[in-house]
Amino acid sequence: MSLRVARKSISDVASVKLQREELWTESKLRNLIHAKLGDKVLFVVSNREPYMHVLDEATGAVHCIRPASGVVTAIHPILCACGGTWIAHGGGDADRKFVNSKDKLGVPPNDDRYILKRVWLSKQEEDGYYYGFSNEGLWPLCHNTHTRPIFRQEDWEIYKQVNRKFCDSLLEELPATSPFIFIQDYHFTLLGKMIKEKRPDAKVALFWHIPWPTPEAFQICPYQKDILDGMLGCDLIGFHVQNHCNNFLDTANRLLESRVDTEKFSVIRLEKETFVRAYPISVKSHVGAPALERDTSLEMERLRKEFNLQDMVVGVGVDRIDYTKGIVERIHAIDRFFEKYPKYRGKVVFVQLASPSRTHIKRYHDLISEIDELVEKKNWKYMEGSWKPILYLKRHFSADEIAPFYAMADFCIVSSLHDGMNLVAKEYVSEKRDNRGALILSQFTGAARELVDAILINSYSTEEFADSIFQAVEMPVEEQARRMESMRMIVAENNIYRWAANIITDLTALKNV
Ligand code: G6P
Repeated sequence: MSLRVARKSISDVASVKLQREELWTESKLRNLIHAKLGDKVLFVVSNREPYMHVLDEATGAVHCIRPASGVVTAIHPILCACGGTWIAHGGGDADRKFVNSKDKLGVPPNDDRYILKRVWLSKQEEDGYYYGFSNEGLWPLCHNTHTRPIFRQEDWEIYKQVNRKFCDSLLEELPATSPFIFIQDYHFTLLGKMIKEKRPDAKVALFWHIPWPTPEAFQICPYQKDILDGMLGCDLIGFHVQNHCNNFLDTANRLLESRVDTEKFSVIRLEKETFVRAYPISVKSHVGAPALERDTSLEMERLRKEFNLQDMVVGVGVDRIDYTKGIVERIHAIDRFFEKYPKYRGKVVFVQLASPSRTHIKRYHDLISEIDELVEKKNWKYMEGSWKPILYLKRHFSADEIAPFYAMADFCIVSSLHDGMNLVAKEYVSEKRDNRGALILSQFTGAARELVDAILINSYSTEEFADSIFQAVEMPVEEQARRMESMRMIVAENNIYRWAANIITDLTALKNV
């Protein structure tokens, strides 16, 4: 099987090379989808919604924000290009005020490119399905970060109920003939099978945005069979990299009565065939874009003044506060860098933009305090005059607010301990229009397979990590340009429109079984 996988990966790479003729754009994707789907609309289901209405308690004003989520970053441009309906949890505290009687609204606000349908969850449902089963169970199960997964029977019961609730909400929307449904992520492992029971004519794809573990790791999940069975209700399952596909095929092979076809890369269970493919997810990419949507230079100047960054070498990190992102390891490496290379004290500042996440879970709550303390300690250790090594900005940042930080950063650090893809790496590269800057990238991310011109690191090795910061800071401009140009081309060629085009093409090519 390993040999076949190797052969397939080589032929996939070859076919990608052959296809590298022109860049995929929004309009090219729109044309492809119209050609493939005709009048049929696309249905997307995810837990996280692309727009959230949140109440600012201090001012009483309601803000419409775009949540920090890889799923949102990736899927939103696709629906903007093609229209359709996106069904997601209405998680904002002011969300109910902005929907019609059918719980729907047009988004983006004042542009109405597609429909967002909000599904309401009670506190108890959110607790069992989202915080509990999805994020204390499946999330740590799929990430090799040594955080122990917690499986509670009551969470599992609620997870099943919530999958059913989303299924009912989706079924209400489906047209009479063969709809196309695109499910996102680990929150909905049971949905594929539930949909097919009611609508066998539907074509259903699931994209798994996080890693898939080995069968040995997965088999500790008490509900392994139901989960695999639910997922295999789909016609197509996508992962970021071939390795996760292989792990999934191995898992199905070992833990479920099924047949794995290693020629076709599919699993056959109870006469139903599910295809498994790697689709490395991406961002829009600004390469080849006609003009800047927005000039970031004034904004950069303002930020430099506001945070005393004039004449500083600036590094940046942009993360949800999650133990998989390696933020603690990053701070230790920054500490070691200043210890080992003291000439950079007073000259380099690392800006960490950190958005609080899943804060009701103890592990996340504790991590927030741990990082607060660590930053305070390291800043105190090195601070001289008005300079301190780490500028820690802890709040939600919009994409427009993040862009000037990327643009001004001389280097960016992505140090995940395990990550399906990591779109921050691709966003940084895409934003560096002047080909300046260096990317320090964990070898444990999916992105490291594509962005081989980054400085690749083992985030657990503080010494190696500290030296990589030194390498980034010292990198000659010509080398920055050579590496950045090559990475920008890779992101441009494999942008989010190509990703969607590949999945839609494969899904529409499948014959219903
Ligand atoms: C990861 C998951 C997404 C999720 C995002 C943010 O990228 O794959 O499904 O939306 O994290 O997490 P949150 O729990 O805030 O939606």
